[in-house]
Amino acid sequence: MEERVLSRTCLTIVLAAGEGTRMRSRLPKVLHRVGGRTLIGHVLARINEAGATATAVVIGPDHDALAAEVKRLAPSAEIFVQDERRGTAHAVLSARTALARGADDVAIVFGDTPFVRPQTLQRLRDALAAGAAVAVLGFRPADPTGYGRLIMDGDRLAAIREEKDASAAERAITFCNAGVMALAGKTALSLLERIDDANAKREFYLTDAVALAKAAGLAATAIEAEEDEVRGINTKAQLAEAEAELQKRLRAAALDAGVTLIAPDTVFLSEDTTFGRDVTVEPYVVFGPGVSVADNATIRSFSHLEGAKVGEGATVGPYARLRPGADLGAKTKVGNFVEVKAAQVEAGAKINHLSYVGDARVGANANVGAGTITCNYDGFAKHRTDIGANAFIGSNSALVAPVKIGDGAFVGSGSVVTDDVPADALALGRGRQSVKEGWAQTFRAANADAKKKHAET
Ligand code: UD1
Ligand code: CA
Repeated sequence: MEERVLSRTCLTIVLAAGEGTRMRSRLPKVLHRVGGRTLIGHVLARINEAGATATAVVIGPDHDALAAEVKRLAPSAEIFVQDERRGTAHAVLSARTALARGADDVAIVFGDTPFVRPQTLQRLRDALAAGAAVAVLGFRPADPTGYGRLIMDGDRLAAIREEKDASAAERAITFCNAGVMALAGKTALSLLERIDDANAKREFYLTDAVALAKAAGLAATAIEAEEDEVRGINTKAQLAEAEAELQKRLRAAALDAGVTLIAPDTVFLSEDTTFGRDVTVEPYVVFGPGVSVADNATIRSFSHLEGAKVGEGATVGPYARLRPGADLGAKTKVGNFVEVKAAQVEAGAKINHLSYVGDARVGANANVGAGTITCNYDGFAKHRTDIGANAFIGSNSALVAPVKIGDGAFVGSGSVVTDDVPADALALGRGRQSVKEGWAQTFRAANADAKKKHAET
């Protein structure tokens, strides 16, 4: 099966020109996120896995941010702008130049239906390989309201009727169009070009390709999928449901892979979160995109991680924040109220309490005391702090970058370090303490005196 599909070229067209009015957001609908990834990002990842040899994305006018996201995620995808929203077939034809180039298979997917599995797309393409001109993904929703109904004729698909155009008998059909369609490349354009807007919404319906295929003596067929896989996202409530559904799947996969999640329902994962063996995640932890956790690491409660690597046997949290570029080596410790960004924390180093370490390297086995801050930003640019192996940074120090602390050096607590510190040196960058013997006694006596005088008057 795979082989048959792999030897065929496939143009995948993603329809994403919709406004997403019901999201009540300025953001184009497909830029909303599930599991830390945009809806369009989910779709592009899946069609890539399904073996798309060319990708076209149809977007609306004023969708610059969406175009940028597509370019970032799929630089080779071609972007087409549909100037007017005149229906799904009209949207597909916005990508006419890509269609005209020809492909064995044309797969059409919706940008707001993020969880269609690559295997499902392959099943549709298998149907084309077996001779169908049109293959449609169907499902049986708990509530069919609003969906196009699949009108079967034996095991052939005869037509798709949109709800607004359907008779009462047709509305009683529970087998519905999920929106994903595959067209044989050699007849795709001619079918699409014959679609008109003679319907209730005066739109060019992609779904009309089915009846047109039948009229032309071509075969159309339907493949069935589960509702969870083809659920579209139109509202914030559906976005939240999709998130919950995805989190359930990700947690189950993590548990299956041997991760100890003490309270799975309180841990939020991303699709690309990776775990080694014998990792423990305590309750209430958020993994944003791009996190990998190596063997034997422990992520303690209330930590937030994104774009970060956690090395073997490392401990993070409770209450730690790892931002993009945080790279913790083996057996490192990042404790409570510590934020790490764009920093390599080398093996065995400890940053246990209340610190900010950004744009930095912390050498192996260095100890960064409580309250240490790397002052990486001067209001214009970011600068680096380099802390050598075995260095000891006293509590409440400010390391004003760019600055280097040599291997084995000490920084006295409370220092503001503006100059490099050589290896094995001690740096003190604070006011010298002065002690006035007996001062407190004098102070108290003077005050008691004043109080007494005040009471007498
Ligand atoms: C469509 C199907 C319906 C199916 C349902 C599944 C048609 C005519 N109807 O209906 O049979 O049951 O999806 O969810 O295809 N889009 C554009 N440009 C347009 C119109 C739509 O890019 O001019 C995009 C939208 O952004 C969206 C997708 O196409 O991603 C579907 O459009 P939508 O209007 O939501 O179609 P439905 O009415 O839900
Ligand atoms: Ca829809």
